[in-house]
Amino acid sequence: MGKWARSCALCHVTGEAGAPIAGDSAQWQRRLAQGEESILQRVLEGYNSMPPLGYCMSCEVKDFRAMVGFMAGINQ
Ligand code: HEC
Repeated sequence: MGKWARSCALCHVTGEAGAPIAGDSAQWQRRLAQGEESILQRVLEGYNSMPPLGYCMSCEVKDFRAMVGFMAGINQ
């Protein structure tokens, strides 16, 4: 997941600024409870300290969907 390592990982490995940590499924379950469409919208548009597109300008929605699944511990 090279795109993930160059973008999302900057914050989602350490939990920078309150970012949910990759692999912490309890944190991710709480986030995913809002529904996939809503969570992907926040990735595209940004949400508090989460920047729009999460610094991955070349990512498409399918990439973001895979990245969220990866961080949540689904489809690894
Ligand atoms: C500059 C740091 C930073 C980067 C880079 C970043 N994030 Fe985040 N992300 C955050 C922070 C901080 C939050 C928590 C925002 C909040 O809940 O206030 C967050 C929250 C999220 C959430 C949960 C949103 C919600 O509705 O609860 C998702 C999904 C997410 N990030 C996906 C990604 C993806 C995918 C990438 C890479 C393409 C990425 N992030 C890159 C900082 C970052």
